[in-house]
Amino acid sequence: MSHTASAPGKIILFGEHAVVYGRPALAIPVTQVHADVQVSGSSRAGIWIQAPDVNLHTELNTLPSDHPLASVIHNFLFLFRVSPFPNLEIRISSTIPVASGLGSGAAVTVALTRALSSFLSRPMADEEVNAFAYEIEKLHHGTPSGIDNTVVTYAKPVYFIKGQPIETFKVGAAFTIVIGDTGISAPTKESVGDVRKLWEADNGKWESVFDRVGKIAEEARKNIESGKWELLGELMDQNHLLLQEMTVSSPELDRLVSAARSAGALGAKLSGGGRGGNMIALVNVNLAESVAKSIREAGAQRVIITQVS
Ligand code: PMV
Repeated sequence: MSHTASAPGKIILFGEHAVVYGRPALAIPVTQVHADVQVSGSSRAGIWIQAPDVNLHTELNTLPSDHPLASVIHNFLFLFRVSPFPNLEIRISSTIPVASGLGSGAAVTVALTRALSSFLSRPMADEEVNAFAYEIEKLHHGTPSGIDNTVVTYAKPVYFIKGQPIETFKVGAAFTIVIGDTGISAPTKESVGDVRKLWEADNGKWESVFDRVGKIAEEARKNIESGKWELLGELMDQNHLLLQEMTVSSPELDRLVSAARSAGALGAKLSGGGRGGNMIALVNVNLAESVAKSIREAGAQRVIITQVS
């Protein structure tokens, strides 16, 4: 019998980068894209991994120990002292584009952890899955805030402050977001590292920039909870300016952001690590398709329309 688990993608609505420095950020799951893992017993010896999306068909021991999938499996088996190693077939597939700010790494980690936990009868509470996924994120991303693994684990809107217990928030009235992917994969580790260099060179300046971002995230949460979602547009624009100041936007992101605004979006910003990956735009639902079209014409490789409710 095989055991399966799935985890959604995510986007950050407000507060990326500043969240690494203790300011609040808001993120939501994006269920249109997801990572899916199936674990089953195997008659052949070893732990066999099939991940056709990345053209990986191999036995665990052929992978370097710091390979993202190998590190999840090794750490899981170590955590639960599973010995001897069972013979397994692990099938991994994902519709979440990699290195684009949609949380693909965290989603694969969470789905794989849950599928292993279920198949090997080692039950894990959400908090345990989240803490485990955070340790894996730290192996691959330097100094992550933990927002990706948190929103992906709980699959709920999250008001996130690094190191604090998870807080979800209510959505007073549903609103629509258009997500545009530049198609450029940009490692978050690099943009996070570059922001750190800026911060190290001028602590005072960047602390005040991060404070402004934190205030935007707080105000955004209040507006979302009270159903005044139209006010988020202006906050997105302000947040995007501050992200540009942090040097994490790019000409391609700026082009998609401008295209969205010209097509009638109420506001737009990059989302996630930046330099490439995705941008988001807030739209009236009746304009979603035309904003999506404009973003595509401006170069987006893929567009997702998602409802936050
Ligand atoms: O994983 P991404 O690209 O969505 O970005 C994560 C958000 C950052 O604030 C840039 C980094 C972090 O760890 O919070």
